[in-house]
Amino acid sequence: MDFPLDLFHGTKTPFYYYDLALLRQTLECLNNALPSSLYKVHYAMKANANPAILEEIKAAGLGIDAVSGGEINAAVEAGFDPSKIVFAGVGKSDEEIELALKVGIGTFNVESLEELEVISDIASRLGCTARVALRVNPNIDAHTHHYITTGLAENKFGINLELLDSVIDKCISLPSVQLTGLHFHIGSQITDNTPFGILCERINALQTELEQRGICFKTINVGGGLGIDYDNPDKNPIPDFKSYFNTFAEKIELRPGQELHFELGRAVVAQCGSLITRVLYVKKGIVKQFAIVDAGMTDLIRPALYQAYHKIENISSDGVPEKYDVVGPICESSDVFQEDAVLPKVSRGDLLAIRSAGAYGEIMASRYNLRQLPGSVCR
Ligand code: LLP
Repeated sequence: MDFPLDLFHGTKTPFYYYDLALLRQTLECLNNALPSSLYKVHYAMKANANPAILEEIKAAGLGIDAVSGGEINAAVEAGFDPSKIVFAGVGKSDEEIELALKVGIGTFNVESLEELEVISDIASRLGCTARVALRVNPNIDAHTHHYITTGLAENKFGINLELLDSVIDKCISLPSVQLTGLHFHIGSQITDNTPFGILCERINALQTELEQRGICFKTINVGGGLGIDYDNPDKNPIPDFKSYFNTFAEKIELRPGQELHFELGRAVVAQCGSLITRVLYVKKGIVKQFAIVDAGMTDLIRPALYQAYHKIENISSDGVPEKYDVVGPICESSDVFQEDAVLPKVSRGDLLAIRSAGAYGEIMASRYNLRQLPGSVCR
């Protein structure tokens, strides 16, 4: 990636840099890869809610997958059509449910019988009907990091298959909810399409079984989870949306007119973002040398929280490579971006780019140690 160093000049570090041209290209590829107009993508706003990013996503015609009242408000403020908002989450508060109903969102992705009853009560009080999709836990191992796998039986997410019949019965009996779909999500950063194929098979079996009971759905929502190449962001800047969608096109048995919904987050925004940080000190130890930078786990928590790898580049120097532990200033020993990173000789004042940070980067920043939140620069 070419970084606009002139634009960075004078900008307070650390900050997120977003390459909006790459984002536009990514969105174009995504739209071109959709096999039919019945395939619809709701962008998972939890990955990044920067207004400049939302603007591009809206322009590309995607809907929004929101997980809080805050995200619903941000989607509406950004000008998304409320009917293209789906609202997910295991713990929706009464206030959030009321907000979603008043705004007129498309669908609630419902995670429990208990939640269904509350939604129905609130909708009755407001004199409206809530469209709901039941989130089913399909018990599939997505072979991803255990913190971001969600489809296994022991997760807190979704309705266990054994309980599904009773929740459907309840849904049918409640006055102010309308059952429109089934929802699934098996995990995140999935780089092999096999688990998605298995998901399709589970969905096919389930649909056939439920149809025998006379239950049909307008939509099937398969969640998000398509991964990206953290190792080679320049070689693979855009995920292979074609093979991903084709896996579904080949395996899933949609009923006539039935829509297939996706909730992609990372695959859309990860590669267009980098965290730009300045080297404060090059500290020589006995066996190691440390590049101490002004960004920390408060700005990008993924390495500390998930042992995630993000490629790091020295964008100020093309000197002879040396080995560094790239670490932040936070008082936590997990505040390490990368051990033994091989970088062109690093000096105080150099800018480093921590790549593939557009998803779950800026949005997960915190003010721990009373630090300022990182800013952002777009081009
Ligand atoms: N739908 C549901 C129900 C989800 O729980 C998620 C992500 C998505 C869609 C979007 O998944 P994606 O397409 O982005 O994989 N903070 C972690 C990732 C947490 C993902 C949570 N759920 C990380 O930095 O890797």
